[in-house]
Amino acid sequence: MPTILITGANRGIGLALVKSFAKDGWKIHACCRNLERAKKLKAVSGDITPHKLDVTDKLKVESLARGLADEPIDILVNNAGVYNTREGFGSTDYEAWTEMLAVNTQSPLRMVEHFADLVARSERKVIANLSSRLGSISAVEKGGSYPYRTSKCALNMVTKLLSVDLADRGITTIALHPGWVQTDMGGEDADIDVEKSASGLRSVLERADPSQNGGFFNYDGAAISW
Ligand SMILES: NC(=O)c1ccc[n+]([C@@H]2O[C@H](COP(=O)([O-])OP(=O)(O)OC[C@H]3O[C@@H](n4cnc5c(N)ncnc54)[C@H](OP(=O)(O)O)[C@@H]3O)[C@@H](O)[C@H]2O)c1
Repeated sequence: MPTILITGANRGIGLALVKSFAKDGWKIHACCRNLERAKKLKAVSGDITPHKLDVTDKLKVESLARGLADEPIDILVNNAGVYNTREGFGSTDYEAWTEMLAVNTQSPLRMVEHFADLVARSERKVIANLSSRLGSISAVEKGGSYPYRTSKCALNMVTKLLSVDLADRGITTIALHPGWVQTDMGGEDADIDVEKSASGLRSVLERADPSQNGGFFNYDGAAISW
């Protein structure tokens, strides 16, 4: 069976992706920063190996990549993310912004820098960054949420650059919008439940091929403009 590595796998969209892929026998490396609190993840049955990983921890990312060095990874999903301040213009929380850039923008790149060789050795060779429509410049209608939106906008640029840098190794790199999803981050008023998002994302991930390299896709497969 193919192998998938997912960050932020203990709750929300990451956990729902684990459940979906596990049901069909995929081999899963499920990364989360606090294994002791990952009860829901541990309750999922399947070929799942949990790993303790704070994605901002450079040494832990390096050592996990070294530990998995013999293992091809078909799909790498950079899902871990934070949205820890929603203040508007005039109330920007600059510390929270720094954390968001570290988790949402820099960590996906760091993960790819360490895991690209393992992805390149796999059959499918797919890297997906969980972005957000809120990171699309062309979709801006309302102001506000500068920290989160810039962190995802910059992640989109990271994705596009990776699509160029990794193309000659056969790797397809894409950005994904999961929908507005009922998770701790999305809140209970969000449009769709986590299962619907994960099932759509899974189809997009499984269908991803080099013709989509450098694209930005909604969970239903529709292309999103940057
Ligand atoms: N929900 C939405 O409507 C929505 C919309 C657009 C995009 N997204 C994106 O989709 C992704 C998943 O969102 P979600 O709704 O599932 O969020 P969530 O329910 O808040 O879960 C976030 C996950 O990221 C993990 N995480 C945060 N910082 C981390 C770090 N430094 N190292 C490792 N893991 C870390 C969390 O771990 P802990 O449990 O340890 O905190 C948790 O597992 C995010 O990238 C988010 O920006 C979500």
